[in-house]
Amino acid sequence: MKTLFITGTDTGIGKTVVSMCLCAYLSLRRGMNVGVMKPFESGLTEGGQEARSRDSVLLREASGSTDSLKKINPYAFEAPLAPEVAAELEHRVIDLDNIDRIYRDLSGAHDVVVIEGAGGVMVPIKKDFFYADLIRRWDAPVIAVSKLGLGAINHTLLTTRFLESQGINIAGVILNNAGNEAGIASQTNPGVLKRYLRAPFLGVLPYLADVTKKEIDRERLAGAFEQNIDVAAILKFL
Ligand SMILES: Nc1ncnc2c1ncn2[C@@H]1O[C@H](COP(=O)(O)OP(=O)(O)O)[C@@H](O)[C@H]1O
Ligand SMILES: [Mg+2]
Repeated sequence: MKTLFITGTDTGIGKTVVSMCLCAYLSLRRGMNVGVMKPFESGLTEGGQEARSRDSVLLREASGSTDSLKKINPYAFEAPLAPEVAAELEHRVIDLDNIDRIYRDLSGAHDVVVIEGAGGVMVPIKKDFFYADLIRRWDAPVIAVSKLGLGAINHTLLTTRFLESQGINIAGVILNNAGNEAGIASQTNPGVLKRYLRAPFLGVLPYLADVTKKEIDRERLAGAFEQNIDVAAILKFL
C-alpha cells in the first residue's frame, strides 16, 4: 500500500496546506491517482467549518479525488477536541476495524493515499490508542510538518525522536511558513534542523497568501511544492 501520513508538531501549523500541496504535486506533476483521508476531524459546527475550509474538503479539492466525504472523513465531530474526548462527549464509539476497512478501500482505489492526522502524534484517538499507534498499525511513512520560527527546533525534534522511538519510518520533515515569517529564527531553523535531524530535511514551504481562502489553485500548490521541497526524497517511498 502506498501511503504518506502527514503529521505535525501541533494543530494550526500547516498540515492541511502541506498535504494539499503534496496532493496537487503528485496528481498534476506525477500523474498519480491520489486519494486522501482525514480519519478524524473535529470542530465542525453546522454551517461553519462544514463549508469550504474543512480539511477533508480542502484535501479532496487539492487531490482531485471524487470519493465521498464520508469515506475521506469517517469520523466528524462538532467539538474542537481530540477524537477520544470528542467521541466521549458525543456518545460515539470509534471502531478501528471500520477505519481499517475504509483505509484498505482507498488504498485499493488509488495510486497513493495521503492521510492527514489531527494535532500531533500523541493525540488520543481512543483509550490508550494514539495517532502514533494508528501510524504504526498502517505501517505508513510519515512526513512531519513543523511551523517555521521560534520553537521549531524543539517541537520538531520532540516529534521526530518520539516517532523514531516507536519504530516509525520518517520520510522527512517540512518546515511551513504559516505566517509570513522572516525572523532570525526562521533563517537559522533549516541549518540547525539539518544538524540534529536523523530523518531527511525536505525544505521550507513558503507563505502562500490566502491559500485556503480563495478558490483552490492546484497549479499554484503543485508549483510551490515542486520548487521548494525535495520531492525526490518523497518519491522514494512511493
Ligand atoms: N504556507 C502557508 N501560507 C499561507 N497560509 C498558510 C500556510 N500554511 C498554513 N496557512 C494557514 O494557517 C492556518 C493553519 O494551517 P493548516 O494547514 O490548516 O494547519 P493544520 O492542518 O496543521 O491545523 C490556515 O488558515 C492556513 O490557511
Ligand atoms: Mg488540518
